[in-house]
Amino acid sequence: MNHKPESVNVAIKSIVILISGHGSNMRALLEADLPCKIAAVISNRADAPGLEIAKQYGIATKVVAHRNYPDRESFDAELALCIDSYRPDLIVLAGFMRILTPQFVARYQNKLINIHPSLLPAYSGLSTHARALQDGVKIHGCTVHFVTSDVDHGPIIIQAAVPVLMDDTPATLAARVLDQEHRIFPQAIRWLCNDEISLSTEGKVQMKCLEQSGCPLISPKMELAHA
Ligand code: GAR
Repeated sequence: MNHKPESVNVAIKSIVILISGHGSNMRALLEADLPCKIAAVISNRADAPGLEIAKQYGIATKVVAHRNYPDRESFDAELALCIDSYRPDLIVLAGFMRILTPQFVARYQNKLINIHPSLLPAYSGLSTHARALQDGVKIHGCTVHFVTSDVDHGPIIIQAAVPVLMDDTPATLAARVLDQEHRIFPQAIRWLCNDEISLSTEGKVQMKCLEQSGCPLISPKMELAHA
């Protein structure tokens, strides 16, 4: 008998990306050849430069301008309607600078992913690079995580660390961190699209079959003779 291999019908995931500004992280996702359909890019600001980039890549764009809504609840409700019209499996916050209501977060439980420019749980909120410099930390970085109603918290998927240099300004440090954001964000979304990560009952991210080596970063670097 001739046994044909059974075709496995794995549905490709669909994602919607939310932005507010330049969209460099969104661009990193668009350029990463991810195993998913990028259904749309939605911005809360009509003048977000990222919208033009998305159009150049042939991605549908929408604007839900927060200024047109009297409160967070009504903005989030309209945003949810817009998102739901694309029926995404994941909603990816790529520099989306709005605090989301608990109702919105609950609606998309385990489907909302954010990137934040710090090693969470340190430096949630704004001005992360200036605050890290102010504190004199030697290592800073970025985090991709599931969104919970606790702003800039939630199960961590991947982090990247960079050294903080003596002559750093918030801008130079931001640029070093942003380079790493562009590396880890596509990686996290790829894992999610391939169902390679899951959430434990304790709310921790578990890797299904990945080697979890990582590598140490010491900053400033140690003298070799004493290393
Ligand atoms: C990125 O650094 C991102 O981590 C940050 O906004 C920047 C957007 O840049 N997001 C947050 O601070 C969210 N709390 P981009 O528009 O060039 O991707």
